[in-house]
Amino acid sequence: MISSDILERRERQFGPNAPLFYDRPLHMVRGSECWMWDADGNRYLDCYNNVPHVGHCHPHVVDALCKQASTLNIHTRYLNEVVLQYAERLTGLLPSPQLDRAMFVCTGTEANELALRIARHASGNRGVLVSDFSYHGNSSGFAELTTGLPHPEPMADFVRSLKIPDPYRWEGSEDEMVAHHLALVDDAIESLTEAGFGVATVIFDTIFSTEGLLDVPPAYVQGVAQRVRDAGGLFIADEVQPGFGRMGDAMWGFESTGVTPDLVTMGKPMGNGHPVGAVVTSSALADAFTGDALYFNTFGGNPVSAAAGNAVLDVIEREDLVHHSATVGQYLQERLKDVASKFNCAGDVRGRGLFAAVELVGDGKQPEARLAKAVINEMRNRQILISKIGPADNVLKIRPPLCLGTEEVDLLADALSSTIGTLAQ
Ligand SMILES: Cc1ncc(COP(=O)(O)O)c(C=O)c1O
Repeated sequence: MISSDILERRERQFGPNAPLFYDRPLHMVRGSECWMWDADGNRYLDCYNNVPHVGHCHPHVVDALCKQASTLNIHTRYLNEVVLQYAERLTGLLPSPQLDRAMFVCTGTEANELALRIARHASGNRGVLVSDFSYHGNSSGFAELTTGLPHPEPMADFVRSLKIPDPYRWEGSEDEMVAHHLALVDDAIESLTEAGFGVATVIFDTIFSTEGLLDVPPAYVQGVAQRVRDAGGLFIADEVQPGFGRMGDAMWGFESTGVTPDLVTMGKPMGNGHPVGAVVTSSALADAFTGDALYFNTFGGNPVSAAAGNAVLDVIEREDLVHHSATVGQYLQERLKDVASKFNCAGDVRGRGLFAAVELVGDGKQPEARLAKAVINEMRNRQILISKIGPADNVLKIRPPLCLGTEEVDLLADALSSTIGTLAQ
């Protein structure tokens, strides 16, 4: 039983609007691999958290953090081997030799802010294209171009939001879908140009996760990148969600789109819970920007963060987690499709690697948000943690630490099957 005392204290400190997961909130006290334990000693299978990317409290990462914290922690205005090694390893993981510069920050928001500044500096334009249900950060700058979460700030006049192709709902051919949506991009670029903003950048989370993990055709992303570049702008790939092997088939989400970004932004999984973020770009773009802006980040790139980042890369390599994400992810898709085949309300199963979505619908593909909420709460009662996303809040979101195994996939799929079976009567 969660004590009412901790809920009251939390509300006194953080207020009634500080978000909490589940109708019956959880008080977690410990984690290991893809498991967490609450204050009463109950064990939960974590199929939601992508920050403990290589597993909760991975001993190699904890050890590296402790060792560096007890040796030296400073900012980047001194020479330091640990951060240098990390930058070399990170840029070495990008598939293009042009993406050869790493700039360290502390969060995904900061990475996107920095990438936006670089794009505006390089293009001389202000206009930004985003998808029509996206989230890239919580700063004042990014609040003005957030289309996927509620916020009091009005949309900035230099932003145009793009309707993203949704193959599950589109009724014509893929070619028609892509052509239709690219015509909307042409309109958005024309509107930014006419308004005098021009186009500085498009920023996409390349697996369109906030959008509901849509199966967007690569031809669409390529068409957007081409149009933005023709207008003088740059392409930012936000890898905060798909990066570091989650997609199974590659280290980065953008690799499946056929577009090499000008700027790649990273965050959540980098430090396995320690706050680490980065922008990776070309030396030409980075040098042009830092030639005009004395860019400095007090905590970004400190040796403790870099040690955590290096340790996460060690684990990804040693435990072959990209391949593991592909094989277990394939099994996850099979099991989820098997569950979905039993229930009309499970309209679509999507995803790649260890990121999966199940869209819950009624007649005529009507979004079933109430059912999605009931399912995640009942799954929580069964000690399996998932969440939901999408514009209609009806898409189950399954995004576990990469160490999830096939036995855990079975626990998840069996619980989901019996939960939907009970609730969808
Ligand atoms: C796609 C994407 N970009 C950026 C961010 C912002 O990252 P942070 O919360 O580390 O600032 C998030 C956070 O949820 C995200 O999902």
